[in-house]
Amino acid sequence: MTEKQYGGSTGREGKSLSAKANIQNTPISKTKRKEIPKDNSTSKASKEEKILEAGKIAKKSVDYAKSIIKKDMKLLEIAEKIEEKIIELGGKPAFPVNLSINDIAAHYTPAYNDETLAHGLLKVDLGVHVNGYVADTAFSIDLENNEQNKKLIEASEKALMNAIEIAEENLPLSQIGKTIQETIESLGFTPIINLSGHEMQQYDLHAGLTIPNHDNKSTIKLSKGSFAIEPFATNGSGKVYEGKPSGIYALINWKNVRSETAREVGEFIEKEYQTLPFCSRWLVKEFGTKALFALKQLEENENIHQYPQLIELSHGLVSQAEHTILISKEKIITTN
Ligand code: CO
Repeated sequence: MTEKQYGGSTGREGKSLSAKANIQNTPISKTKRKEIPKDNSTSKASKEEKILEAGKIAKKSVDYAKSIIKKDMKLLEIAEKIEEKIIELGGKPAFPVNLSINDIAAHYTPAYNDETLAHGLLKVDLGVHVNGYVADTAFSIDLENNEQNKKLIEASEKALMNAIEIAEENLPLSQIGKTIQETIESLGFTPIINLSGHEMQQYDLHAGLTIPNHDNKSTIKLSKGSFAIEPFATNGSGKVYEGKPSGIYALINWKNVRSETAREVGEFIEKEYQTLPFCSRWLVKEFGTKALFALKQLEENENIHQYPQLIELSHGLVSQAEHTILISKEKIITTN
């Protein structure tokens, strides 16, 4: 899952203009939120084992997804099958499977009653966690046998490979962005500059460092840790705007709600997903459609944040490729 940037050239320095906008726009990891006790007892070795295990499950889930996705299959069926596969393999979805078509760059997941059929240029972005340790990976698929789609897919994939190749501790992040930008531009397309990759920590999908998709001149350097690199290529303008609400949410903070149903749903969210993203579809499965009312109340009460869909500004086609890398003693692509 991607991170949208809000102004500034170095990502996280960007600030929203008003308190209200701040709540809606700030990445979850920056908002004041409920602190969930993390398992500090886990040794570094076993932490890395879990990161690698999540990566393996993610890779198998990608292979599975590629084997089942066909044009005109319901997005709902695709998402549910992939999420079931993740669980069957011993992981949990780190966020709802994102299935974003054409000019929707990211953050589309089917609603519980979604009738949309797979078509066009489809991005499949999936996450797996094992004890909160996350693997985040994505691929794009052309369901139209269309030359432009295929070239866009090639551009984001090559950009990802080139970025992974140079990634190492102490490399300025702008170098990764520059490589992504140059690769995509050399193939005749534009990177989406206000979407970026991100560091990941336990139960925190968008933690710490931001990995730019263009040369943002940042002097911040890559550290040890776990990082999602995710270039997006487009034949459009190279920026996204915030579209309709996505039905994807994350817990911000836990202050009391009056409604009993909202409280019940909130407690379930806290227990099941902690601070990782979840979706209305999952909660309708658990509680029925009364979950939708509860989510609305939790959102109004600012207990949860809803992500907007991210749409290409000029409605260009968008491709995405993503892997998680672990930089430790050596560099490992966990999702490959
Ligand atoms: Co991501």
